[in-house]
Amino acid sequence: LILVLDFGGQYNQLIARRIRDLGVYCELVSYKTSAEKIAAMNPRGIIFSGGPASVYSEHAPLVDEGIYELGIPILGICYGMQMMAHQLKGRVERADKREYGKAVVEFAPHSQLTQGMDSQQQVWMSHSDRVTELPEGFIIDARSEHAPVAAMSDPKRKFYAVQFHPEVQHTANGHEMLKNFLFNICGCKGNWTMGTFIEDTIQEIRRQVGDRKVLCALSGGVDSSVVAVLVHKAIGEQLTCMFIDHGLLRKGEAESVMETFAGKFDMNVIKIDASERFLSKLRGVEDPEQKRKIIGNEFVYCFQEESAKLGQFDFLAQGTLYTDIIESGTDTAQTIKSHHNVGGLPEDIQFELVEPLKALFKDEVRKVGEELGLPHEIVWRQPFPGPGLAIRVIGEVTEDKLKIVRESDAILREEIAKAGLDREIWQYFTTLPNMKSVGVMGDERTYSYTVGIRAVTSIDGMTADWARIPWDVLERISIRIVNEVDNVNRVVYDITSKPPATIEWE
Ligand code: XMP
Repeated sequence: LILVLDFGGQYNQLIARRIRDLGVYCELVSYKTSAEKIAAMNPRGIIFSGGPASVYSEHAPLVDEGIYELGIPILGICYGMQMMAHQLKGRVERADKREYGKAVVEFAPHSQLTQGMDSQQQVWMSHSDRVTELPEGFIIDARSEHAPVAAMSDPKRKFYAVQFHPEVQHTANGHEMLKNFLFNICGCKGNWTMGTFIEDTIQEIRRQVGDRKVLCALSGGVDSSVVAVLVHKAIGEQLTCMFIDHGLLRKGEAESVMETFAGKFDMNVIKIDASERFLSKLRGVEDPEQKRKIIGNEFVYCFQEESAKLGQFDFLAQGTLYTDIIESGTDTAQTIKSHHNVGGLPEDIQFELVEPLKALFKDEVRKVGEELGLPHEIVWRQPFPGPGLAIRVIGEVTEDKLKIVRESDAILREEIAKAGLDREIWQYFTTLPNMKSVGVMGDERTYSYTVGIRAVTSIDGMTADWARIPWDVLERISIRIVNEVDNVNRVVYDITSKPPATIEWE
């Protein structure tokens, strides 16, 4: 285990990512974690991350100084280096020139992080403070034009620090430097895999839960699905899954969830058919935000009422991911966030949380899912919003309109899969703009709905580009939708990127 102490730097996710890629298990924890707790976790090495603060600012984040007494190797990066220098009685000053971007640093031959490399290394700098006096016991490992101490170390205590960012690609040999720290200095072996992750996690869940009971809200999405199967593997019958069908799911989705979990995995799954409840609340409502709010609230009420009927549970299992934790700040990681897998449960729900995926990235969760034998369509399922099809029917949601979206979406998905584009396109679905237009079918005039196709490529959903689906594929989709879905006579393709549009239409 390598522990990364988080000071809020923008590259912290990357540090963890690089280390995992090297086969070393790594967790990101708050910089406030006490020395005692760290000692109990028994890491082979500690990394102080970068961060936006200055060590001299009033609320500068500082670590428990007991950490320096644990005898564990430490690597300080950027702010992490400055803080180390500050706490160990060196000197940190504001540089007259901010150093930002690519820089060349000259390493001394003794530098352990760069063993086996040239003395001149291209690195990525991003700092305005710099170390000007070394703490006792330290030597200079590298200099740059603007930083007299670009890297320093105290090899006796195994403390290492760099002013630059070894985790980013612009530091040409950053990967090798991290390797030197992990393998040569910390003695890591690099044999961590998803298989060992699953075994360890199952043991950990058993330890945490004992013989008590766990409830899991299953949505059919990859995160909650992987959590459910993992927890089930650990504690079997002590787990109950609740699957709320709000009537806003895609065609065949509810059936496939039940088939997979109650069927294939033989799990205890309770399906709540709440479509009537949700639809009646949505009747007459046109405003998108109001629709979202109604669905979010209803989800919470429904979950609370139905789980109360099931008796007492001690734990709630959640598909919180590493990125969720980082986005919410590591000091608040334990609060249940709105807009999450369970649809925004309120914070006052009295459960202890089981969050076995909270150290993983999305693609790692997919690997775990595959390893656990989850079906392909769940592991590689495209993102689907909590409010479901309700935000793809523009304006008021009715059964009839839901049916048009559901049927047209199923055709779209089928054709995209047939064309082998389902992995390439981040998200693809149909929408029902609230409009009718004139058409001609046979010899008759029609006045029917228009269906919109939305298909985007993206990495994280924050920005997106419209997917260049081949015209013949679009043609097949269009013909099938008009022919097979009642009350539709026109299909349009959305060619707006995000921004300025969003991915969903509401
Ligand atoms: P937008 O429409 O904001 O969507 O560009 C970005 C991504 O987020 C998904 N999305 C949601 N996911 N609850 C969710 O769990 C929601 O309320 C929600 N709204 C949008 C959307 O599908 C896209 O992947």
